Amino acid sequence: MVSLAEYLKLALDRVSFAKRLGLVPDAWQEDLLRSTSERVLLNCCRQSGKSTMTAVIALHRALYHPGSLILCLAPAPRQSQELFAKIAGFYRDLGRPVSPIGERKLSLELENGSRIMTYRAQRRPSGASAASPS
Ligand SMILES: Nc1ncnc2c1ncn2[C@@H]1O[C@H](COP(=O)(O)OP(=O)(O)OP(=O)(O)O)[C@@H](O)[C@H]1O
Ligand SMILES: [Mg+2]
Repeated sequence: MVSLAEYLKLALDRVSFAKRLGLVPDAWQEDLLRSTSERVLLNCCRQSGKSTMTAVIALHRALYHPGSLILCLAPAPRQSQELFAKIAGFYRDLGRPVSPIGERKLSLELENGSRIMTYRAQRRPSGASAASPS
């Protein structure tokens, strides 16, 4: 149970939310967490924390924006599954602050109506993309 002040701080500031998860965001990670852009392109080296920050943003959305649908998409199933595993791990680390109504290996449904699903993005011969469950 968190106080109202703490709840509001976590809900309104994704950097505080990341710190609550035990992370110490780098400057570029803080910029990303505070970004309100609809699309973001990350030009970063390997193992710099792209997936970790994406997982923080996805979980924050699910917890504090009821009814959100969050899709983890990647060309290979393993990639989207790894991202989902990070999100699910953070969710458990926080003690499941919004109760689950469906907690499965590749999807998470919360009682606030938010859902996080894992999909493999497929490229059709025409070039149009589609998504199917991993
Ligand atoms: N701000 C941070 N504080 C603590 N640990 C961090 C932070 N950012 C990333 N890490 C750790 O760095 C490691 C690499 O993170 P992550 O897997 O997110 O990187 P990535 O850029 O997605 O890697 P890849 O290029 O392999 O996909 C992980 O162990 C993660 O926990
Ligand atoms: Mg990654």
